[in-house]
Amino acid sequence: MVQVDENDLSLLFQQGIQGNAASFVLLARRLVSRLKKSDPATATLLAETLSSMSSPTRSVTQPVDADSRRGLLKEEMAVVLDHEPIWSPDIALKLGRVIDERRLATKLRLSGLEPMKALLFKGPPGVGKTMACRWLARELGLPLLTLDLATVMSSLLGKTGTNVRAVVDYGRGFPCVLLLDEFDSIAKRRDDERDVGELKRLVTVLLQAIDEWPSTSLLVAATNHPELLDPAVWRRFDLELDFENPSEPAIVQFLRAEGISVTVATELAAIYAGSSYADLRRSAQSAKKAAVLSDRSFEEVLAEEGLTSMAALQESTFLRDVKIKRLAAEGISHRDIAQQLGISHPTVGRVLKKTKGN
Ligand SMILES: Nc1ncnc2c1ncn2[C@@H]1O[C@H](COP(=O)(O)OP(=O)(O)O)[C@@H](O)[C@H]1O
Ligand SMILES: [Mg+2]
Repeated sequence: MVQVDENDLSLLFQQGIQGNAASFVLLARRLVSRLKKSDPATATLLAETLSSMSSPTRSVTQPVDADSRRGLLKEEMAVVLDHEPIWSPDIALKLGRVIDERRLATKLRLSGLEPMKALLFKGPPGVGKTMACRWLARELGLPLLTLDLATVMSSLLGKTGTNVRAVVDYGRGFPCVLLLDEFDSIAKRRDDERDVGELKRLVTVLLQAIDEWPSTSLLVAATNHPELLDPAVWRRFDLELDFENPSEPAIVQFLRAEGISVTVATELAAIYAGSSYADLRRSAQSAKKAAVLSDRSFEEVLAEEGLTSMAALQESTFLRDVKIKRLAAEGISHRDIAQQLGISHPTVGRVLKKTKGN
């Protein structure tokens, strides 16, 4: 016999009839939690119904920018990674908790709790924020939707809030992982009043999105510059993850996975200390190609390139300029180049201007 408090039931009916989905879900969850003792089977059934129904049905068409009609999203039904990530103990622990809470969501719901739904990834460029989100989608077997604000920004200025809203509404429609990547890019261009207003609107949209986000999906915002946004915003996320450049043991692990021996990997790790994963990967790829072209060993070329890129960079302006040009050709921003090489922003501009003139 199912024991339910009639006041609870009456409140639930009221909210349902009024079409107040958020309150309905809240009350339903409370009911499930109370039923757990007297009737665990019914409680489990209701908890499962609640998790499968709490997101509305999927809308068919992807959102597009109202003016340009350009698609706003990248949608991947099944994420494939081209290599396995290496996580620091702290990141591994946190990502593991996210996965556990999702896998055991029914158990949580039976106690009136919800799994984490909004995550914030912080950290400098090239340290695995995007990769972690992709990894999560793959591990959870969910489709990944990516809105990269850095790439859509220019055409969207003035309507970013509206576009983010459309993307969030689309993502709420079915279980998925939605990544709002490079979330701060809009904040970087605070050169005029309009941008400041736009940023404020964007923050409002983000806060609403978190509130309305169904716990059957995961919302991830990634940022290089968390300081540009109000700390109150960040407190609304269930969990913050701070990504950092790889530690020396992590670099050793990375190089080992690339096929470098322990001894050489350990020596190289000291040289590469302070590099990001993206730097490491770039160096490894370039050394692999150079090794093939010159019939030398990959280890040897990598060691040599490591030495020139890190140590000699400080001594030789020639090497420094080569590196600046290479990074610029890869589409890295002046600001990020300056940060990576520990030089000033104007220096980067000057070097690139000089090469253009030649
Ligand atoms: N934890 C990691 N383990 C191994 N490789 C990584 C890791 N994080 C990043 N990388 C490499 O660096 C590249 C850039 O990482 P990405 O996640 O795009 O950086 P971010 O989003 O933080 O700027 C990835 O494509 C991947 O090859
Ligand atoms: Mg990224």
